[in-house]
Amino acid sequence: MEEVKSGLENVVVLETGVSSIDGTEGVLRYRGFDINDLVYLPYDAVSYLLIRGKLPDDNELAVYSATLNEKRELGEYVQNVVRACNFNIEAMDALRTTISYMSHCDPDLNDNSEEANLRKATNLIAKFPTIVAAFSRILKGETPVSPDPTLSHGANFLYMLRGSKPTEIEAEAMEKDFILSAEHELNASSFASRITASTCSDLYSAIITGICTLKGPLHGGARMEVMNMLDEIPAPEAAEAYVLEKIANKEKIMGFGHRVYMTQDPRTIIFKVLAKQLAESKGETQWYRTAENIENTLFAEFMGKRGKPLYPNVDFYSGVVYKYLEIPPRLATAVFAAGRISGWIAHCMEQYSDNRVIRPRAKYVKPAKTLKA
Ligand code: SDX
Repeated sequence: MEEVKSGLENVVVLETGVSSIDGTEGVLRYRGFDINDLVYLPYDAVSYLLIRGKLPDDNELAVYSATLNEKRELGEYVQNVVRACNFNIEAMDALRTTISYMSHCDPDLNDNSEEANLRKATNLIAKFPTIVAAFSRILKGETPVSPDPTLSHGANFLYMLRGSKPTEIEAEAMEKDFILSAEHELNASSFASRITASTCSDLYSAIITGICTLKGPLHGGARMEVMNMLDEIPAPEAAEAYVLEKIANKEKIMGFGHRVYMTQDPRTIIFKVLAKQLAESKGETQWYRTAENIENTLFAEFMGKRGKPLYPNVDFYSGVVYKYLEIPPRLATAVFAAGRISGWIAHCMEQYSDNRVIRPRAKYVKPAKTLKA
């Protein structure tokens, strides 16, 4: 039997056309397009690219965006489920419950044809941000805000969350966050979703698998922990001591490290620029300077002590961006999921299209036993 690869590190388990990562050069492509180019498109064009495999022309984009606008509202029954989640919980738990309920309302639930799954896909992509925004407002005793069809996907989320239209730079940052969060090859939640899809279970079930997996603090849950860390550090000057104490206590610093990237995560570079732009536009540089001090401290510490740097990952500066966008920490991972839903769906549809049940082996390392006669 093969040697066990802890965490399936560097194990190639399937061929995909959805995305590619060069961990050495720090390059990420969705369907062959570099994310440094894709971030200048609307999120709708990128989610279309991911779920359909090609960029939309102007007419296709207009029809797709109109369909998303039609499906953005939750409707009375789904909104009542969000209201029923009015507990002191993370938004990921409310999202999981609400998507479960939505699956009962979908007549195509167990139809895994491409046509049915594309219909479910637009429903899910449209509603994820609305659910997260409604949950946040209900928790604060506020009335959910209906989407505005004149706004982009990202701008609509901020409008539904805050009840006021975002500035241009805020809308741009949110749109780019959804794009940068959309897809990342066989990360834990996308791979988990594919495993569910590989049994020919339905798309909603596969997406709920993704939600439950992304929640973990070693995966998407890190984004919330980054925001909490920024709140714990009283000033940028206190960042170095804070981080060095955690490292001395053998604690992991949330928002740092990656299984695949051996250099800067290309998404982080873009998020860092967005965070700086937001900080300067708002005249509030504290969080950005604190984050930079954390990054520089860890780079020096790991370079000095271990000869290789520890880089920030996608959850670090996106957490700083969320601070400036006034997104509460308890929403952070669910906002990540509102971007990642397109990648999960792309992976599931690829799995359905050329499927074999995903079933690896385990190496038994305990002694055989016999029942005493
Ligand atoms: C995401 O897979 C994806 O693509 C995920 C993602 C996506 O887009 O889907 O990119 C999104 O999940 C990003 C990661 C978010 N999680 C965190 O920020 C949590 C903190 N990071 C670590 O837990 C860790 O870096 C992981 C989970 C991200 C990667 O884990 P690995 O590959 O198993 O690495 P490891 O834990 O074995 O660490 C290797 C070494 C260790 O040192 P030694 O024990 O060998 O001496 O690096 C150290 C670790 O201690 N290290 C860290 C660290 N990350 C690694 N030390 C301190 N803080 C950290 N964050």
